Amino acid sequence: MSQTETVSPLHALYTRRSVKFLRGPAPKPEELDQILQAGMSAPDHGALRPWRFKIIRGEAIGKLADMALDAVKRSGDPRMTPEKEKSVREWMAGVPLFLALAAKIDHNSKVQEQEQVIAAGTAVMNVLNAVHMLGYGAFWSTGLGTYVEEVQEKLGFDSLDHRFLGFLAIGTPACAVPKIERPDFRDFTSEWTGA
Ligand SMILES: Cc1cc2nc3c(=O)[nH]c(=O)nc-3n(C[C@H](O)[C@H](O)[C@H](O)COP(=O)(O)O)c2cc1C
Repeated sequence: MSQTETVSPLHALYTRRSVKFLRGPAPKPEELDQILQAGMSAPDHGALRPWRFKIIRGEAIGKLADMALDAVKRSGDPRMTPEKEKSVREWMAGVPLFLALAAKIDHNSKVQEQEQVIAAGTAVMNVLNAVHMLGYGAFWSTGLGTYVEEVQEKLGFDSLDHRFLGFLAIGTPACAVPKIERPDFRDFTSEWTGA
């Protein structure tokens, strides 16, 4: 979808797809405001507002690469080979904007933790759709040390109160994004009649 195209909201939902390889420009500051605001209308049991976003851009992206890759290597993850590190660094160098994502858990709430995490996830989904509707691309990744506790701690999401949900890479698609066939909803849907 181009930034000037006018499309129906449903068409926008149907055509969203993840775009891993991104470049500048990132959404303008006022567009980023709109994108993040879209997250605020996610469904939310108990009005706990569990979603948390950390904006990472400019020089901070290089610092994120150093911090996360060092932590992953120190964690002893055998998948972080020198080749893998090089490709992650190259990928990140092209991305103009990251959002680190977390659910802040209210341990005193009657709302189950699972629901709080789901609410944060739906906020991320709204953000993904808003990015697409404004003509940009995004990719949700739980690489970059998402499951290494040190990474979330260094991002300011203390692990006692936060479930870390990874990162959104956001920017302009680096190449044309081909359409893909989505599954037929009937394959995932059945009717319960009470019989
Ligand atoms: C929570 C979450 C984490 C993800 N983490 C990764 C990841 O680390 N690496 C990856 O290749 N894809 C990951 N994906 C999948 C991509 O973001 C993307 O959804 C997938 O490539 C399918 O593309 P589509 O969104 O256009 O259907 C993740 C998706 C979700 C929902």
